[in-house]
Amino acid sequence: MSALSTVRSAPAPAPAPAAAPEAGWPSPQAVTEVSARLRALPPLVALGDCLELRRRLAEVAAGGAHLIQGGDCAELFAEVSAHTTRRKAAQLRELAGLLEDGTGRPALAVGRIAGQFAKPRSQPVESGPLGESLPVYRGDAVNGFAPTAEARTPDPGRLLTAYELASDIHRYLAAETESAGRRVWTSHEALLLDYELPLARTLGDQHYGSSGHLLWIGERTRQPDGRHVRALAALANPVAVKLGPATTAADVAELVARLDPERAPGRLSFVLRCGADLVEQVLPGLVRAAADAGARPVWICDPMHGNTERSADGRKTRRMTRVAAEIRSFVRVLRRLGEHPGGVHLELTPDDVTECVAGPGDTPGAARYWTACDPRLNPAQARFATAVFIEEAR
Ligand code: PEP
Ligand code: CO
Repeated sequence: MSALSTVRSAPAPAPAPAAAPEAGWPSPQAVTEVSARLRALPPLVALGDCLELRRRLAEVAAGGAHLIQGGDCAELFAEVSAHTTRRKAAQLRELAGLLEDGTGRPALAVGRIAGQFAKPRSQPVESGPLGESLPVYRGDAVNGFAPTAEARTPDPGRLLTAYELASDIHRYLAAETESAGRRVWTSHEALLLDYELPLARTLGDQHYGSSGHLLWIGERTRQPDGRHVRALAALANPVAVKLGPATTAADVAELVARLDPERAPGRLSFVLRCGADLVEQVLPGLVRAAADAGARPVWICDPMHGNTERSADGRKTRRMTRVAAEIRSFVRVLRRLGEHPGGVHLELTPDDVTECVAGPGDTPGAARYWTACDPRLNPAQARFATAVFIEEAR
């Protein structure tokens, strides 16, 4: 009997609070039915693999390795195929190879892939093509990208499609790992607890999230006593938390207490995303707070989410000068404090898009602005960001 066949579905979790703010499902009944179906499906990842990634991340935390975490801001259902998966994985492997060659240390490749189907949004509505008020796009696991009222209506049936497509992607990744030599681990933001909780599984005395290897909590849902922190605290996976500029030392201490009570290296990663100008001000206090709490988290730099701007034509973009500046400050601060810069977290794509720009005054090219959410680095820009990290960190 294989290990997987002994995996049991988790006991039904306590009912989620009536309003699941991150999705806005129209009918609680329909979500309950979907949850029951998700609970009966096979796990997408094995507990042993999640624990293996924890061990690898412990090496990063100890200073002996690095990681590159990257992929789309929002994966799209329509783009999932063996071909796109192979291209995305190849890009991550290439960047991990650069990191390895450039630093002389092993590097992990971790995709924002096979589950990055839900987006936290700052506003519930936006203005549609006719000036009408339209619910915002929340990721393919919730609603459709097309700017129509119909497409934007949340549909919990999409959670099942997300599962099926994530399952396909895991299969494609597994199929090529042997020939490609380097494993691509999976990660996504664990935003939709209506997806994550029914996919939690129990194996022996271990409870884990079977939707992906590494799960992270976003900047908007990282309240230490919030539902997301409590949900991930119960899982054995490696977990990460995004930290924005308003993060306090007390937040870090509390996140450590709740998410890494055993202070186990590899369990917890912090992903700083505070914007190039604020790293010097914000990061030292957070690093000290983690150290004072006895934790040894992996420190990761997301140089994307604190540097988002609107260009003249209203599109979101990011300047490479700011991206590079945040990476440099991040590595320097950690070095100064005697801590290891673990790696970078990038929004990127193997397509030759024009979503991020070189510097001030540039506007993103409309012809190849394809992202469904935030602007991504194209392959050359992703290599550049990786090279900046290597230059500082080696
Ligand atoms: C993201 O990673 O796409 C995201 C929304 O990040 P954050 O939670 O850091 O804003
Ligand atoms: Co994003």
